[in-house]
Amino acid sequence: MKVLVVGNGAREHALGWKLAASPRVHELMSLPGNPGLAELGPVVEGISVTDVGAIAAMARVQLVDLVVVGPEVPLAAGVVDAVAALGIPTFGPSRAAARLESSKGFAKEIMARAGVATALSETFHAIDAVMEHLSTREGPYVVKADGLAAGKGVLVTDDRAEAASWASRWLPEGPIVIEEFLDGPEVSVFAVCTEAGAVPLEPARDYKRLLDGDEGPNTGGMGSYSPVDDLPAGLVEETMSTVIEPTLAAMSEAGQPFLGFLYAGLVLTGQGPKVLEFNVRLGDPETQAILPRLENDLVDVLEGKTPEWSDTASVNVVLAAEGYPEGPVKGSVIDGLAEVPGDVHVFHAGTRRDRRRILVDGGRVLSLVGVGDTMDLARDRAYAAAGMVHWPGMQYRTDVGLQS
Ligand SMILES: Nc1ncnc2c1ncn2[C@@H]1O[C@H](COP(=O)(O)OP(=O)(O)OP(=O)(O)O)[C@@H](O)[C@H]1O
Ligand SMILES: [Mg+2]
Repeated sequence: MKVLVVGNGAREHALGWKLAASPRVHELMSLPGNPGLAELGPVVEGISVTDVGAIAAMARVQLVDLVVVGPEVPLAAGVVDAVAALGIPTFGPSRAAARLESSKGFAKEIMARAGVATALSETFHAIDAVMEHLSTREGPYVVKADGLAAGKGVLVTDDRAEAASWASRWLPEGPIVIEEFLDGPEVSVFAVCTEAGAVPLEPARDYKRLLDGDEGPNTGGMGSYSPVDDLPAGLVEETMSTVIEPTLAAMSEAGQPFLGFLYAGLVLTGQGPKVLEFNVRLGDPETQAILPRLENDLVDVLEGKTPEWSDTASVNVVLAAEGYPEGPVKGSVIDGLAEVPGDVHVFHAGTRRDRRRILVDGGRVLSLVGVGDTMDLARDRAYAAAGMVHWPGMQYRTDVGLQS
């Protein structure tokens, strides 16, 4: 089959790499792709990920057999609807079902109908109501833009004035959700949802903050590792039965059946796990740590087959540009990629090819994934590789996969 991967990050490179390894896949195309994906097959240029009609038309002309969508923006734009309308199999939720991520207010409604434990919340459409609400409560305040905001729409603060100005900043773009503060460690649980039902993927832990010890600003994610062995026993099974299954049932009842990857962001509170949010795609950087541990065929898994996992551990170290996340410095030549040993996966994100050179072309630039029988071995391999790759101002955390 000919598979098209939509997206251009390290998550999409990892998806493309795993799909291309399938004996069922004879060609792996990507759009808009990156230099890493270009090593796996043809890259389609000149079409934006939100131009869903053009993506669908291109997929038909190219006789694509399966489209796999990585990021949330094309999903929320309806790429699955457009491609499926031309009879081409597509892995990902419809535009309406993608509202589980693209509207936090909608997700709360579905969770209420499904009886899923989550933070108490209210949705607001006007600043007066926000001010009234904030004036009656103490912090911490959790204020969220309802719509997609590339991970930059949420504020957690003890400062009421800051909460109010955050709300007034985002209200022009849509409703605001204000919710109860949930205290506890965060965990992500991913499920593959197909006609055959939902099956969990191996959990992974990610590092959101820029610097070691969880210091510095929030980022898109500076690293991840899998497996996660300090999870409460049975957490994945419990999440499947108390969160994923009821949510899928409520979506079907609402006439919006959910197919695709469902990512439940959880907080392990004193009253048990509660849902922070849903994402309707795999996480980046978690995907880069999870897929190297998958032993069977990803195409089979996307069709509902139970995933099989190796006992190995994987550690994903994200190399970021100078100035990331505020203002990444682009254009430097990346040295040392040829020295990275074959047992370390190099997944491209913000890179650009200039003849034989690879240049920095984004904030998060590369994911280096070490795999080994132990977490320490996987870590050593990832960091040995990080020591070989270089460009001026490159930054990465040194504590990814360190077991406490
Ligand atoms: N109710 C809450 N209580 C405590 N912390 C919260 C709460 N909601 C969100 N947070 C914090 O804010 C972060 C981002 O929130 P959330 O996951 O809802 O937003 P997002 O922008 O969709 O994130 P992502 O980019 O991971 O999809 C969470 O990872 C968590 O650290
Ligand atoms: Mg989200």
